[in-house]
Amino acid sequence: MTQRKLSSILSTTAALISLIILPTLQATAATLVIYGASGQIGDFIVTEALSRGHEVIGVSRNPDGMTTDHPNFSAVAGDATNLDSMLEIIPDADAVIFSLSGVGPGNTPAEATTVRAAATFIQASNQLGDAAPRAVQVGGGTTLRINGVLGLDNLDVEEGTPRHGQYYGHWLALETYQASTGVKWTIITPPPGIMEPGERTGEYRLGDEEVLFNAEGEMAISTRDLAVAIVDEAESGQSMGTRVAVGPPY
Ligand SMILES: NC(=O)c1ccc[n+]([C@@H]2O[C@H](COP(=O)([O-])OP(=O)(O)OC[C@H]3O[C@@H](n4cnc5c(N)ncnc54)[C@H](OP(=O)(O)O)[C@@H]3O)[C@@H](O)[C@H]2O)c1
Repeated sequence: MTQRKLSSILSTTAALISLIILPTLQATAATLVIYGASGQIGDFIVTEALSRGHEVIGVSRNPDGMTTDHPNFSAVAGDATNLDSMLEIIPDADAVIFSLSGVGPGNTPAEATTVRAAATFIQASNQLGDAAPRAVQVGGGTTLRINGVLGLDNLDVEEGTPRHGQYYGHWLALETYQASTGVKWTIITPPPGIMEPGERTGEYRLGDEEVLFNAEGEMAISTRDLAVAIVDEAESGQSMGTRVAVGPPY
């Protein structure tokens, strides 16, 4: 048999094996804890995760806000800023998704729920060691750059206001994860601006810290497609240890 024939047979066999095996791996059900499951974005993440056959534990301080009726879904009361509470909820999870908002009484960035949740997850992860799940956190669009210019540097919001605390809180959350060691984390950041539920195309692009635009110069993606990117990352951990921008395909 010629070398070319042999390599053709081998590559056909490899393609067949990947056709059989890959969908099986992707179809493996995982346990996903979703903090902020009652929120605007969290609700779409829950729907996306359930559609893939995952076991989903939705968490918020007030679980009555979660109305999903699905055999693989359970709603749990929990506080993402409380270590004891988190340690009761996350140990058996494969991944923990944080889609949180909120600020403290002083509206300072350090009080933002995103930062406090990041710090709490890092502590929890350190206690759980190698068995700790990975975290996927939704970031804030103003922590991305457009032509190298950081969104926060163009922000016209007054210090001491909730928006200021929330926007800069996303930045501090990023720095908090970046300063950690041995923690499995990814921040997935949608482009700046209001997100619309939109269509689920299942298509998106990942980048680093620059906002991603398509060929028409548009940067928006739908909340449904953001949810696809987040659940993909929760399943694969492919961008672990980094923050990534998510945007429309080119
Ligand atoms: N373009 C962008 O960059 C962009 C656009 C939209 C959103 N985002 C980001 O995406 C995130 C989610 O946004 P959203 O609009 O979905 O927020 P949202 O609707 O306000 O939902 C926030 C969720 O967080 C939960 N929560 C708040 N504090 C909590 C705590 N201590 N422990 C557990 N759960 C807590 C809330 O439930 P309870 O109150 O019951 O606890 C709720 O389920 C935010 O960080 C936002 O900045 C970014």
